[in-house]
Amino acid sequence: MSKTPTPTLATATDEPIKISFQKLGEKAEGVVVALAGPDLSFGAHAAEWIAPIQATLAKAAAADRFKAKAGGSLDLLAPALPGVDRLIVVGVGDGKEPVDWVKLGGQIRGAIPISAEEATVLLDVADGSLGADQAADIALGIRLRSYVFETYKTKKKDDATPAQLSKVTLALTDEGAAKKAWKLKVGLAEGVEEARTLVNEPPNILTPKEFARRAAELEKLGVEIEILGEKELKKAGFGALLAVGQGSEQESQVVVMRWNGAKSKDEQPVAFIGKGVVFDTGGISIKPGAGMEDMKGDMAGAACVVGLMHALASRKAKANVIGAIGCVENMPDGKSYRPGDILTGLSGQTIEVINTDAEGRLVLADVLWYVQDKYKPKFMIDLATLTGAILVALGTTHAGLFSNDDELSENIAKAGKATGETVWRMPLGAEYDKLIDSKFADMKQTGGRHGGSITAAQFLKRHVNGTPWAHLDIAGTGMSSPANEINKSWGSGWGVRLLDRLVRDAYEG
Ligand code: BES
Ligand code: MN
Ligand code: ZN
Repeated sequence: MSKTPTPTLATATDEPIKISFQKLGEKAEGVVVALAGPDLSFGAHAAEWIAPIQATLAKAAAADRFKAKAGGSLDLLAPALPGVDRLIVVGVGDGKEPVDWVKLGGQIRGAIPISAEEATVLLDVADGSLGADQAADIALGIRLRSYVFETYKTKKKDDATPAQLSKVTLALTDEGAAKKAWKLKVGLAEGVEEARTLVNEPPNILTPKEFARRAAELEKLGVEIEILGEKELKKAGFGALLAVGQGSEQESQVVVMRWNGAKSKDEQPVAFIGKGVVFDTGGISIKPGAGMEDMKGDMAGAACVVGLMHALASRKAKANVIGAIGCVENMPDGKSYRPGDILTGLSGQTIEVINTDAEGRLVLADVLWYVQDKYKPKFMIDLATLTGAILVALGTTHAGLFSNDDELSENIAKAGKATGETVWRMPLGAEYDKLIDSKFADMKQTGGRHGGSITAAQFLKRHVNGTPWAHLDIAGTGMSSPANEINKSWGSGWGVRLLDRLVRDAYEG
């Protein structure tokens, strides 16, 4: 037997960065960050603190053409301030555009050099716009930017490695309120980190059973967990989902997570459903080899649902929420399902298999049906790395949104704008639906190359019985993510912040 790394818990591998708060005016030494508005303006406290080096700072800013543009930074080594090794000035922009404080947090984190172990940030801007909520958002951005996935690097801790930033202190007038606001957001940070880690984990470690085990850790936060293994799934009739996992040595699993935060346990829940294909070879319709390793991220939808449940339970969201994930591995084997097979899914409808690489919709079809039938939710939103076609259409900046409900769509779009996890609505309609009519069964599983993301969504829609529903195709946003201000990781944890916001703004109370 070859040695395999020991699986770790579902949080970031290194200790998360420590964030603390102090009052403005308390001692700030070592590496200090200050925020600047136009013309190098500061809040009153910060301005007074900087006053002794104002002339030097102005000269440095001119030399570096620093204009306090949002996110831009100026680095002043060994300034003549007592105990200060480095003053980093980060721009907040000219106030014409609203500040994205989470993004700014990421930019602050990015401006702190790798040699620093600790830093203090003076949260004091000229127009006084920075309160407790903004401070908590900055803390969130700092923390998300700091996330690294290094579980399987065995050689990271040698002496040559630069120090890692382990602590950031945020200084502001009302540090007590900021502390409270951050306490309500830590769970959101953890939820995003958890989703990222699940996506980053290799497929030999994150099997469907291991996925279920990690989801079950939410029990510690008061989330009720139900796990259905193959025996239960067969008995219940998950014929489409089970077909996908049929060629794998790994047992398929469906996990239902339940958070009861509403006044009454009987209040109608909202529901989130995730595609959890832990590895997608394509099956018998096997994928080409190049880049196939990326298909370990084909469970980003399910990872988001787990991260979201973590976030909601941590802040004791006042809503009843169901999270359900279908975890399977899609492998070629003598026992695999094949093109031409006709499956009977949980809905009782029959499905003609065209391409075993269109597995995600089969998994989701059964889980969607199960959730709406059993829990009668107010709405359901599914997330899935469903189609390569959505990458062609929207690239990596918007997820595709498909829905049978305008109000739900609007609410998702709003939460998307608020969090920067943006969506773009795509069409559904009878003409597209026709494309998945089958000669041999109630429907075909695919509708050809053209409009591939849409026909995939039409297939899902045939497994929704009128419940308000939205489908987010996150193939472009959930994995293999380009680095940005708040994420340097391959798995982005996309959707956790969006859906936490959606629940908070539109469905809690
Ligand atoms: N998991 C893939 C979609 C995908 C592609 C996710 C690229 C992330 C990046 C999905 O299961 C798939 O293979 N879809 C096929 C569907 C086709 C066979 C109808 C596709 O998009 O090519
Ligand atoms: Mn596939
Ligand atoms: Zn897939």
